[in-house]
Amino acid sequence: MHPRYTEMAVRDRSPEMEDLQGGASRIFNSAVIPLAVEHGQRGAAALPGPSLARRLLGDRRLLLVSNREPYVRKRTPDGVRFERTTGGLVTALEPVMRESGGVWVAWQPESDARETAIESERRFRVPDDGPQFTLRQVPLTKNEVVRYYYGFANRALWPLCHYFVDRCRFDEDEWKQYEQINERFAAAVVEEARAGDVVWVHDYHFCLLPQKIRERRRHGGPIAFFLHIPFPAEEVFRVLPWRRQVLEGLLGADLVAFHTDEYAGDFLGCCERLLDADVDHERQVVHWDGREVRVGVFPIGIDVEEFRAAAASPEAAERAASIRKGLGGARLILGVDRLDYSKGILERLHAIDLLLTARPELRRRLVFLQVAVPSREQVHDYRELKRQVDEMVGRVNGKHGTANWQPVRYLYRGVPREELVAYYRAADVCLVNPLRDGMNLVAMEYVACQQDGDGVLVLSELTGAARTLGDGALLVNPFAIQETADTLAAALEMEPAERRRRMQRLFARVTACDVHGWLERILTAALEEGHGEPRGDAGHARPRSMSLYH
Ligand code: ADP
Ligand code: F6P
Repeated sequence: MHPRYTEMAVRDRSPEMEDLQGGASRIFNSAVIPLAVEHGQRGAAALPGPSLARRLLGDRRLLLVSNREPYVRKRTPDGVRFERTTGGLVTALEPVMRESGGVWVAWQPESDARETAIESERRFRVPDDGPQFTLRQVPLTKNEVVRYYYGFANRALWPLCHYFVDRCRFDEDEWKQYEQINERFAAAVVEEARAGDVVWVHDYHFCLLPQKIRERRRHGGPIAFFLHIPFPAEEVFRVLPWRRQVLEGLLGADLVAFHTDEYAGDFLGCCERLLDADVDHERQVVHWDGREVRVGVFPIGIDVEEFRAAAASPEAAERAASIRKGLGGARLILGVDRLDYSKGILERLHAIDLLLTARPELRRRLVFLQVAVPSREQVHDYRELKRQVDEMVGRVNGKHGTANWQPVRYLYRGVPREELVAYYRAADVCLVNPLRDGMNLVAMEYVACQQDGDGVLVLSELTGAARTLGDGALLVNPFAIQETADTLAAALEMEPAERRRRMQRLFARVTACDVHGWLERILTAALEEGHGEPRGDAGHARPRSMSLYH
């Protein structure tokens, strides 16, 4: 084994997990589609009868709130169509809403005055190919988007939670706008809510929303909050001028949920030390405002079956073959991200440079493909990153390329799912090296798309995914560029048997942490929040604990 491999202990070694690993090995050894894996390990959407979410919810509805809308309206010659948007949150939650039905409340960015005035244009049944839930849009003007989304959410909270304190800008007007938009969403939620609805608020755009909904609400059902990004250590979080308000806002929920026990622990620590709240660390409960607020750990996953099936299709096989043909026999290292400074894209290019410098024999025998979807382009740091990435791609290609071979190929756009899965399938190595990431779904998608089980995942230890996936991946410190380059070399040199052994373990973990299992655990916990038993026949055992890790 390469000396720089970092192994992370997997704490959850339940018999169920061992069984799963057996399941995964059967899949890879025989290259056969996994049919016989138990529920929760395979995805509830494939089960017969009412969906798991429906059985858990009974006659309650799910009222989900996120900033990013699941679909954007596109005017085409054939009329208006809805196109799925990109990002971890939508990737995870869109299948959940298809399964559970209900209402998804999300922004309608940069609406003009005419559109905002037309009530009928704010509620839609979606998606196009068989409506399953209602999309309720909350219109925001351009200026509101600038201050609330590009401003407070993405220039204060995002860098703060990802430990980039020097990138934070704390602006009083942007904070006020953030408060107002949270207020407006609270009004929309209360307007949409019916008695008993489960309200589920998502992500850092809406830290104040749980409290604001509680203050105004009439519906009486549980309020859950899930944070898709890291929650930072107290030493970092305390620099936020409005830290009290943000914590109090979150504590308006009955359940505050995170990806990892570190994030949950840091949140509990902040409540204790910055709010002077009474915290029961054993039970993961904050006593606040006469209530018990439960704090839970629910690592999110992907719809494994959907990705696996997409990658297994003949179309994906054909595309993957054509991608490989275009490589002319070279090995392929793949990076897929939103263009975000938290993703470590510059560090990745630097590692490729070091690798090719140290091993000139890899020239013409290696291609690094970066697929980067444009993101938050109105924020200076994102535009600056784009400039730096463009420059760095040019520099690496200029240094190592030849007249008929370029080591770096760079697609600056989102690619459709059919194309994405073909890249995953074709890649020998997937490099996922964020400097900090709440979870990172790309790592899981790559694993789910491995058909013969011999790709290698190189993964940053500073991601939530490193906790979920553990020792099947080659873990790296993303700030240690030489270590990353050496680990890439080791990934390329790894024996097929070792690659398959690791990929089996990864596949077992990804499958065990599937988005449907996540939904089951978190909905069950949300329904337990002092609001009595779920009314439907859930028909499933309750999770033993609020954490996958304990
Ligand atoms: P984040 O939530 O920070 O964007 P994740 O890795 O958790 O990061 O999720 C990113 C999601 O966006 C994944 O589902 C991934 O497939 C998708 N995605 C990222 N980049 C692209 C791209 N260039 N084209 C298409 N989809 C992309
Ligand atoms: O997963 C974290 C997250 O910020 C989500 O909330 C968001 O949908 C995704 O990344 C993409 O970011 P944005 O919505 O700003 O494009």
